[in-house]
Amino acid sequence: VTPAGARLRLAGRLALRDPRLLLEYAGWMARGSTHPSTGQRRPPSGAVTPAVARTRIADALRPWDAGPARDLVAGQTLPGGTGAAATAVTMAGDRSLGELVYGLVRAAEPDVVIETGVATGVTSAYVLAALEDNGGGELHSVDLPPADMVGSGLVGCVVPGELRERWRYHWGSARRLLPGILKRTAGARRVFVHDSDHSYANMRWELELAWDALDAGDWLVADDVDLHGAFADVAGSRGARPLFVAQLRKPGATGIMPRRSGADSPW
Ligand SMILES: C[S@@+](CC[C@H](N)C(=O)[O-])C[C@H]1O[C@@H](n2cnc3c(N)ncnc32)[C@H](O)[C@@H]1O
Repeated sequence: VTPAGARLRLAGRLALRDPRLLLEYAGWMARGSTHPSTGQRRPPSGAVTPAVARTRIADALRPWDAGPARDLVAGQTLPGGTGAAATAVTMAGDRSLGELVYGLVRAAEPDVVIETGVATGVTSAYVLAALEDNGGGELHSVDLPPADMVGSGLVGCVVPGELRERWRYHWGSARRLLPGILKRTAGARRVFVHDSDHSYANMRWELELAWDALDAGDWLVADDVDLHGAFADVAGSRGARPLFVAQLRKPGATGIMPRRSGADSPW
């Protein structure tokens, strides 16, 4: 199938499923990539290693051990090849990000995790593994995946079938879907993970929306926070104490912060 043919087939599928999706993809194509130019990326000063982050999380919440579901996920591999498979590899989260969210979810024991950005599903898989190893909780994922990945069936491909029962996948833009999910899950103990459109405007909008919807004691995470100051700006405006964690295999850093201000912060 030619790329044009694949796009046409997808357009037909979207129009039948939900015409708003068709509009969202049309808008995406018109705008082009929203990923900020990366230049020379390096972790923000003061970024800690994943091993230090693990200790900080364990001290703030509780220590945890890796359970059997985490081992299942760690054995998954990304697809190889060109075209959509190459897109999938570019989009995939670093395993150290997966391990970080696994640890946070194990330690915070949330009822609900809400994430934006799935692609192949590295973070989704690790979150689902942590919920499984905790013995409770569900994951809501909001995702507007690249059209070629949809056509090739690669969306969520690293999420093992055994872990999908706790998974609610919402296909569409964070702008349209995130407010409703935050509203519907109000009152639950929650962790929010941003890993979708990394433009300054969107990252800031998602994090402010999530901060205002979450309760004291919940947690927020964002990947690629070294691209610009959105994460640090939200932390500053809310008086939170963020931790920046360097990724191991890809350039970049992840931000993590408790939804608590100043002296109430667990770190
Ligand atoms: C960096 S990838 C996510 C990686 C994933 N968390 C992982 O660990 O493998 C970003 C995903 O967010 C999607 N996306 C981009 N803009 C979006 C938006 N406005 N709303 C929801 N998803 C979006 C992308 O198409 C892609 O599927």
